[in-house]
Amino acid sequence: MKRLLTMTVATLALGGAAASAQTVGFSQIGSESGWRAAETTLTQQQAEERGIDLRFSDAQQRQENQIAAIRSFIAQGVDAILLAPVVATGWDSVLEEAQEAEIPVVLLDRMVDSDPSLYLTAVGSDLVHEGEVAGQWLVDTVAGEDCRVVELQGTTGSSPAIDRANGFRAAIEGHDNIEIVRSQTGNFTRTEGKEVMESFLQAENGGADICALYAHNDDMAIGAIQAIEEAGLAPGSDILVVSIDAVPDIFLAMSEGKANATVELTPNMAGPAFDALDAYWNDGTMPPNFIQTESRLYTQSDDPMAEYEARRDLGY
Ligand code: AHR
Repeated sequence: MKRLLTMTVATLALGGAAASAQTVGFSQIGSESGWRAAETTLTQQQAEERGIDLRFSDAQQRQENQIAAIRSFIAQGVDAILLAPVVATGWDSVLEEAQEAEIPVVLLDRMVDSDPSLYLTAVGSDLVHEGEVAGQWLVDTVAGEDCRVVELQGTTGSSPAIDRANGFRAAIEGHDNIEIVRSQTGNFTRTEGKEVMESFLQAENGGADICALYAHNDDMAIGAIQAIEEAGLAPGSDILVVSIDAVPDIFLAMSEGKANATVELTPNMAGPAFDALDAYWNDGTMPPNFIQTESRLYTQSDDPMAEYEARRDLGY
């Protein structure tokens, strides 16, 4: 009820603004992955197509930069704020400030632990489900054989790192043949994915004791694939590789037999976000709390080269 009342006041305040060009501030996390680069590109494209004046701020992975950007957007009097939050906690005060200023905030791709009354809506996938899909793929693929898994986690404290870890564990629960033997963050980057995988390989008998890698994103998996090859092993067969995002490069790796499966996360979060904002600006329509995008599993049998071609020009 509080959310509705607050947003109704905001709607009245915004009334009439829909007729002129809207200004939207976008606080982006950074450019840690190919997926994130594509999300930035698509947000800029979507804004341009809709005649929205997008003010972009790159936080370079720092929450304090995001908070400063949001405060600056509030001071500029933007019509809405898009926020891809680097971590899940610590947003209450700044979201309250935006609400106080009657500026709707839409979360993109990651969640926060704040009360949902503090943002208009969130666009994203079911991050726990993504982890479950990856875990279920492994359960089915090893079919009862013993499998020691190493895990490259996303940025510590981010909702995808928390949820993808939990989802995977839920899927392998009760399958005693599968065990996560090492788990460490690779911060969603190729470089750290490679470095951490090198340490996993060293600690696990040169990689001989690893059956599978679960990476919370494709970029870390791609870095890890390089490490596996440099260790003289064959990624995709000596060590199974399953990850999340469905970026073009993982399809290339799949077409070469070096990666096995990925769960798609669409980088077009801005389309549904701007649709929700348009309706809200026009007549105060309240979107649902959460607008869910799809999560689809791709494997080597899904014509990876065709999937690569379909995505290569999308800004990844
Ligand atoms: O929040 C989504 C995650 O953030 C993507 O899976 C990852 O690539 C990114 O940087």
